[in-house]
Amino acid sequence: MAHAQVYPSAHPLVKHKLSLLRSTKTEPKKFRELVREISILLAYEATADLGLHETRVTTPLAETPGWALSEKIGLVPILRAGLGMVEGIWEMMPSAEVWHIGLYRDEQTLKPVTYYNKLPIEPRVSVVLVLDPMLATGGSAVATVDILKKWGAKRIKYVGLIAAPEGIARLQEAHPDVPIYLGAIDERLTGEGDPWPHGYIMPGLGDAGDRQFGTG
Ligand code: PRP
Ligand code: URA
Repeated sequence: MAHAQVYPSAHPLVKHKLSLLRSTKTEPKKFRELVREISILLAYEATADLGLHETRVTTPLAETPGWALSEKIGLVPILRAGLGMVEGIWEMMPSAEVWHIGLYRDEQTLKPVTYYNKLPIEPRVSVVLVLDPMLATGGSAVATVDILKKWGAKRIKYVGLIAAPEGIARLQEAHPDVPIYLGAIDERLTGEGDPWPHGYIMPGLGDAGDRQFGTG
């Protein structure tokens, strides 16, 4: 099967806001605002192919054809950094269901460890957006999509703010049917000789969870 499509945003607002987000000068309050805003812009791009059905609507002047979304959307933030991506997107699609998956990366092995999963017995949604700011090694994204597929989710899209090429390749390899919507694709992951621990996105923005929650 061919690899899934990767859609790095070309939108000037995304580029502008991502640069602010990366800056060491950006404090947690502003950082959270930017995560929220960029997430809305990326979700707009990721949902451009949602299905519609025709309706009728009565304006003050006349009855006219209208449109309604046919698809039920599920938002799945990966805890904890993905949480900041939910609120803005949810405002745009208030009937979406939100299901949380709790994963953290073991700092030594970089392998994801699952600590929270309370999905209902079967999906009631037709499209799932996986939300996580950082696609680094790809371990967390692959583990989340594994869980969602076992659950029965048929159509899954990944939405992230910044990705390393290594993480994109890993997600594409494991789940070639999952399109990947991104704010930016960075150079690489950190390794030997870098000032940060291994497995961080370079130049990235540091630790997305710590920067949102002020825990760094
Ligand atoms: C970060 C990030 C992703 C993961 C990406 O979470 O939000 O979930 O790392 O790394 P990967 O692609 O190598 O798996 P982290 O483990 O730091 O947990 P947190 O969100 O609770 O801070
Ligand atoms: N998690 C983060 O928060 N940042 C990275 O660069 C990699 C993983």
